[in-house]
Amino acid sequence: MFSFVILLLTVLVLMSFSTNTHKQTRVYTKPTQVSIKAYYVKQCTFCHRTNGKVAPQMQKIKKVYKQKFPASEDFIEALSGFVIKPSPQKRIFPDKSYETMPENMFHNDQKIKAVALYIYNNSNL
Ligand code: HEC
Repeated sequence: MFSFVILLLTVLVLMSFSTNTHKQTRVYTKPTQVSIKAYYVKQCTFCHRTNGKVAPQMQKIKKVYKQKFPASEDFIEALSGFVIKPSPQKRIFPDKSYETMPENMFHNDQKIKAVALYIYNNSNL
């Protein structure tokens, strides 16, 4: 019986250790502003380049979204909502000469929301 209690305690101690390290790694890998910028540059500027040939410039999109959704929460909700599931009905950018943004490119809602906040806060896009 005694050795069973020792065994149980050892298991419990080990479990608490493993959950602890798990928590630490989660905090450690939380996206930072720097990695979100890198993500934005890699995932979005590919099409949203400054020449505006493939897709409108992000600076112009941002202006339209800020006019319609001045509060940051509404801006993030609208912009990330479009990016996660683009559809012609959701388009608010006035220039309709572009193809609708392709669907199913981005699935990480948290990352896209962080990108939306990044766009909201940064004037040099
Ligand atoms: C494969 C090319 C491509 C990539 C990559 C891309 N976009 Fe787009 N995006 C487009 C095109 C084309 C449009 C213009 C047509 C439209 O509005 O759907 C657009 C439009 C938009 C709009 C405006 C939609 C509206 O209301 O009219 C937003 C916001 C947007 N993109 C955000 C993003 C973000 C953020 C990323 C990166 C996470 C991204 N896009 C990556 C092609 C792309």
